[in-house]
Amino acid sequence: MCGIVGYVGPKSAVDVVVAGLKRLEYRGYDSAGVAVVTADGLSTRKKAGKLVNLQEMIAADPLADTGIGIGHTRWATHGGPTDTNAHPHVSSDGSVAVIHNGIIENFAEIRAELTALGIELRSETDTEVVAHLLQIVLPTVDGDLMEAMRRVCRRLSGAFTLVAIVADQPDVVVAARRNSPLVVGRGVGENFLASDVSAFIEHTRHAIELGQDQVVRITRDGVTVTDFDGATADVTEFEVTWDAAAAERGGYDLFMLKEIAEQPKAVADTLLGRMSSGALTLDEIRIPEEQFRDVAKVVIVACGTAYHAGMIAKYAIEHWTRIPCEVELASEFRYRDPIVNSKSLVIAISQSGETMDTIMALRHAKEQGAKVLAICNTRGATIPRESDGVLYTNAGPEIAVASTKAFLTQVVAAYLVGLYLAQIHKTKFADEINAVLTQLDDMPRRIDLVLDTTEHVRQVARDLSNATSVLFLGRHVGYPVALEGALKLKELAYMHAEGFAAGELKHGPIALIEEGMPVVVVVPPKTGRDVLHEKIVSNIQEVRARGAKTIVIAEEGDEAVSAYADVLIRIPEAPTLLQPLLATVPLQILACEMATAKGHDVDMPRNLAKSVTVE
Ligand code: M6R
Repeated sequence: MCGIVGYVGPKSAVDVVVAGLKRLEYRGYDSAGVAVVTADGLSTRKKAGKLVNLQEMIAADPLADTGIGIGHTRWATHGGPTDTNAHPHVSSDGSVAVIHNGIIENFAEIRAELTALGIELRSETDTEVVAHLLQIVLPTVDGDLMEAMRRVCRRLSGAFTLVAIVADQPDVVVAARRNSPLVVGRGVGENFLASDVSAFIEHTRHAIELGQDQVVRITRDGVTVTDFDGATADVTEFEVTWDAAAAERGGYDLFMLKEIAEQPKAVADTLLGRMSSGALTLDEIRIPEEQFRDVAKVVIVACGTAYHAGMIAKYAIEHWTRIPCEVELASEFRYRDPIVNSKSLVIAISQSGETMDTIMALRHAKEQGAKVLAICNTRGATIPRESDGVLYTNAGPEIAVASTKAFLTQVVAAYLVGLYLAQIHKTKFADEINAVLTQLDDMPRRIDLVLDTTEHVRQVARDLSNATSVLFLGRHVGYPVALEGALKLKELAYMHAEGFAAGELKHGPIALIEEGMPVVVVVPPKTGRDVLHEKIVSNIQEVRARGAKTIVIAEEGDEAVSAYADVLIRIPEAPTLLQPLLATVPLQILACEMATAKGHDVDMPRNLAKSVTVE
């Protein structure tokens, strides 16, 4: 939700900031804006719509070439996506410019206070109050922007990353964070601030994680961090392990297509170094083994696609460990008084590590005494930082709003945790664990084979692009795969799509079936749980008998389904629990191509943002 960039250094701030915003546009694209400090004070450009609109505006009316600036790309919360509501927001005397990610919950009260002081607020945003507050506080602290920011932050409640510049301070950018992401990029003679490292990766790979309730001041040569009371704060520095090329489209038309194609590597990288001579080595998890031994219940919290990964993991974790495992939508978790205690392992799954619903769920779990393990793709993000331990999915940057490679790697990482628990609880013999690890190790090769069918799936998608509604059916781990297929289609093709447990269909949803309605069916392996396979073959016949057009995803050699499939998409054989790593891939391609056929912006679907940093 909103991307922010700050820069101070010898380069053109406008160029650095706009290039950074380009990389952060996945976080929101309702409007964009920049502000720079010039010899004549602050200069601002902002425009509703995607970044390209701002770029055109700047091309027509260039900003002065200075070395200090801030920029913002917005996902609207307070106030519609208009030019006026676009960030930066400037104080009434034009001396302070502010950008913001998050929600200031007490903004209405501050707004009323400012209005009483005779200040006229121009926008409908919660952010604008911060610009005015800083303007009021600055003279009382001798113009010390960092101290002014601390004082203002102490007045605010909610979630915020704030970045500010001041007209008469051409070498200082100050930022603060509470519950929203902010990282510092440390360069030589230049420094950066951003929502995530991709914004400055082409300039530096040295980064600093900021903690909760911290304020940072960057100048060309220095980075100073304190808490909201002014005490010097400890920070963690880290090196980004990927380079700028990883955050580029690299010859693909869409980030989503690139990220789908990267899945074999992403899965391989997530397994890398975690198996040695066939055994599982998860030393990097900071939670001691004794605490895993004490685990009596596993609870997975996550949102959206990550929630579907958690649903799949539940089948595997319970099967391998015999420890009860619940999966809960993070947004529901803390509001229903969940039963978790010191014997619970709560696994928070998140690509971004910044999803507010998941952050709040993990905080609630910790308050109840549970151990929290993050499965996350983003180093230094809030979720891994606040968890007791973390297992990173090494998927590399995921830019497209629709999650693809993150999903597969989340399943893999959660499986590694399940096998680790089985190893510690001795619910599986070492050779059984090794057998699963060996199978997992071969999955990148098999995913590659699925990718070979891309053209066929794209053709299927084009043939279906006039459909108004698509149903997805699956059983066992195929059920969350069906949910994931439906989610992808909704978010990209903006069409009605629903996933069902195939057995549930006859309890109501079968009434939806009409002549010609596409129904995508994920068929479990024939050699796995035969009964599952038989049942789904019956389900395919049931929907077909009622006029559905069946698009069947089944493994090579499964001839039992051929007679009932209007369209057959083949995937390689795999054990039941590993099949989601293959069966999901055609569903991603299907959604991507259907959206493309409808002329939608696949990488930036309407109304969405990549990281949902508000509840
Ligand atoms: O960053 P997270 O994994 O926590 O994000 C969770 C969901 O917002 C995310 O998976 C969302 O559902 C995807 N856009 C779906 O493709």
